[in-house]
Amino acid sequence: MTTLLAQPDAITFDRRVDTAALRGIAVRCVGVTKTYGSGQSAVMALRGIDLEVKTGELLMLVGPSGCGKTTLISIIAGILDYDQGECAVLGQDPKRMSARELTRLRGANVGFVFQAYNLIPTLNAAENSAIPLLLNGVPRAKAVKRAREMLGRVGLADRWKSLPAQLSGGQQQRVAITRALVHEPRLIVCDEPTAALDHETGGRVMELLRAVALDEGRALVIVTHDPRIFGFADRIAKMDDGRITSINEGRHEDRSTARGAGGTSDGLTGLLSK
Ligand SMILES: Nc1ncnc2c1ncn2[C@@H]1O[C@H](COP(=O)(O)OP(=O)(O)OP(=O)(O)O)[C@@H](O)[C@H]1O
Ligand SMILES: [Mg+2]
Repeated sequence: MTTLLAQPDAITFDRRVDTAALRGIAVRCVGVTKTYGSGQSAVMALRGIDLEVKTGELLMLVGPSGCGKTTLISIIAGILDYDQGECAVLGQDPKRMSARELTRLRGANVGFVFQAYNLIPTLNAAENSAIPLLLNGVPRAKAVKRAREMLGRVGLADRWKSLPAQLSGGQQQRVAITRALVHEPRLIVCDEPTAALDHETGGRVMELLRAVALDEGRALVIVTHDPRIFGFADRIAKMDDGRITSINEGRHEDRSTARGAGGTSDGLTGLLSK
């Protein structure tokens, strides 16, 4: 991970987001509620969420199982409707967008690491990782090449041909992380990205995610139960029973030094911002 690749060719496509207009706020939720089902089987997963995620920030979301973390980040990523309140994702309210506009916003600007990885079983690691680029019209050869470069950054350079079934859980998780980053999205949402990783590999993945968040134009929201990675957060939001109960400053201290250090962070950010 610390060995940087040469800067690859730029891959550009229309992202349709005016980052200057965001004024430092990537996501804003006010009074957001969500209930699954109806009648006696209704489950109120979110009971009024107020949350802002700033650009250039890595925000962690913690809380007990069932408290609504996955529900909240699915809404933030524009893949789940909310009921009441207001939500702005990269300056736009998913509720006020057509399905086509929302698909386009998500496809170009959001990276999602699902709790269950959600890899396509018949595609190899490089093809799975390249999906967001292909959906944005990047030619196949270029997309797969970039995906292979990114797989190298998570320690999977030699496994790009493997199908998901031929990979360990931790390796599949890293493919899922590669897929979330490969198209250089503005908003990256990860559900337990280090759950299947050992301490060292988890640390390397977090360094990569941390480097991405150093870019002022991006924001990361990471759900985690893993106290080993709390040190990578700018802020930590605690959830309980469908509410945010507190938000604390994280322990991450090297933002200013990492930004100008010219080391790993700069290089990775340089890659991702091309
Ligand atoms: N599709 C669904 N249909 C019905 N209920 C659901 C659905 N998805 C989640 N829930 C319920 O909503 C609540 C919040 O679920 P959610 O998955 O957001 O929790 P979580 O904090 O991510 O939990 P975990 O840490 O176990 O992943 C839970 O009570 C869950 O059972
Ligand atoms: Mg969950």
